[in-house]
Amino acid sequence: MNLKIISSTDRPNSWALKVSQYVSGLYKTKDIEAQVISLEDFPLVDVIGGKYGKEIPSIKKFRDPILNADALIFVIPEYNGGFPGILKMFIDYLPFPGAFEKMPMAFIGEASGAFGALRSVEQFQMIANYRNALQFPERVFIPRVSKEFDPETGLKDDFKQKLLDSQVENFIKFVRDNS
Ligand SMILES: Cc1cc2nc3c(=O)[nH]c(=O)nc-3n(C[C@H](O)[C@H](O)[C@H](O)COP(=O)(O)O)c2cc1C
Repeated sequence: MNLKIISSTDRPNSWALKVSQYVSGLYKTKDIEAQVISLEDFPLVDVIGGKYGKEIPSIKKFRDPILNADALIFVIPEYNGGFPGILKMFIDYLPFPGAFEKMPMAFIGEASGAFGALRSVEQFQMIANYRNALQFPERVFIPRVSKEFDPETGLKDDFKQKLLDSQVENFIKFVRDNS
């Protein structure tokens, strides 16, 4: 099973990346490879000027491993009550309409605020829905991420850690059932 975890911001030293790396480790304990791909590496400079629909080699190289995955896990922060702009840019340079069709996806929100990026995840799910992705219903939200999450040990709240462990375990089954 080939999973990719998308750290959905280009902010350097983001909590999204730390959470993504931690979650990758959880999949590893289940013998599942879940490589982290950071949107910091999205070749933004190559799309300046609005090159929608054009074949851009650096974009293709970035997106192909994602589109060829069996499933995706999005780790999404909240920026101004929504998901980061770089995530929309990434989506807008995917092939249309095929990309994400029947792609199993799971979602983790994280933010400094009290709602753990619920808004960002739900906004992104509207787009995932539009692109006919298969959305896994167990979502995880991490509020006050810098206080409530430790990059080595995970969530400090036992109940939330159980939700994350459950997402990992059940998403693997969901991907198997839908492949
Ligand atoms: C441009 C910008 C806008 C933000 N807006 C919000 C917000 O609306 N709600 C919130 O809880 N946190 C907001 N934050 C703080 C992030 O939640 C915080 O940076 C947190 O660490 C998660 O983002 P990260 O993955 O970039 O670290 C914002 C951060 C940035 C950079």
